[in-house]
Amino acid sequence: MQKKDIIVLGIESSCDETSVAIVKNGREVLSNIIDTQIKIHEQYGGVVPEIASRNHIEAISRVAKTALKEANMKFEDVDVIAPTYGPGLVGALLVGVSYARGLAYSLNKPLVGVNHIEGHIAANYITHKDLVPPFLCMLTSGGNTQIVYVKDYCKMEVLGRTRDDAIGEAFDKVARVVGLGYPGGPKIDKLAQTGKATVNFPKTHFENLDFSFSGIKTAVINLHHKNPDIDKADLCMSFEKAVTEVLIENIEKAIEQTGIKTVVLAGGVSANTHIRSEFEKLEQKGIKIYKPDLKLCTDNAAMIASAGYYRYLNGDLSTSTLNAVPNLKIGE
Ligand code: KG4
Repeated sequence: MQKKDIIVLGIESSCDETSVAIVKNGREVLSNIIDTQIKIHEQYGGVVPEIASRNHIEAISRVAKTALKEANMKFEDVDVIAPTYGPGLVGALLVGVSYARGLAYSLNKPLVGVNHIEGHIAANYITHKDLVPPFLCMLTSGGNTQIVYVKDYCKMEVLGRTRDDAIGEAFDKVARVVGLGYPGGPKIDKLAQTGKATVNFPKTHFENLDFSFSGIKTAVINLHHKNPDIDKADLCMSFEKAVTEVLIENIEKAIEQTGIKTVVLAGGVSANTHIRSEFEKLEQKGIKIYKPDLKLCTDNAAMIASAGYYRYLNGDLSTSTLNAVPNLKIGE
């Protein structure tokens, strides 16, 4: 008998993107609608949580209907409803979770709450049909920086994490101070491509696989304040070089510790040109590198649907009282 396809409707609303996607069997994207609020938050220099929640409320039904229409499906055709339930902004998460709970109840379909970080990792299952665990994931996003040992689709261990700023936060803060605006990552990325790494910023090293980015961030900002005429492109390139060296040093330690030679990049910052090309160089040392499609690096619901699919297969169903967990960790 032919196995039935499983259609997952994924919902993402953890920060400033309202997104709904329809994904078949965890890897085939039938639609992935992303309604971004970047223009709204740009004027404040960062995401304003209250405004984000209100905009999610306004967008979510429309985005869900568009996702179904683009996939040429009806609500009844969906097998599983999978919203992000953490980590993220509580008010923003609650919009997606509540909408999902309502859908699951009215359609009598299973509800599967998804960890946003697992979603970022799963973006790679969509991009690379051959990718299967085990692998190491270098997760670099606006809210998190972690090395995750993905032992199986639903079995993960965090080997190291940032002790202060997430790497994306450091990109955004540096960009704001040097006058590039929000969101800073893509702007620093573009400008750095025209600059040279003329400054060696100090880096913090730990015995274990933890990270620190606030020292580098502060050093960049202090240098800019002391010497406002310093070439901004060179400053951005020097900053990128320093943070990338920190990432590479730790992933090499993780490879040595675990013996795992497959490394997967994930999260918004994995869109960064310099980081991608420096990780690619590890292939010369026999490490296999996987990078998500650029459009799947930042927040989107297709990656959530993919992670939801594997959780569903694992039997991890949520109850109808699923709640938002703003500081949800991997493995909870
Ligand atoms: O993964 P994401 O969309 O949100 C979280 O789940 O946190 O990541 C957003 C972060 C922001 O800090 C943004 O500045 C950064 O990803 N980002 C980049 C690039 N594109 C987005 N950072 C560096 N280079 C980029 N090209």
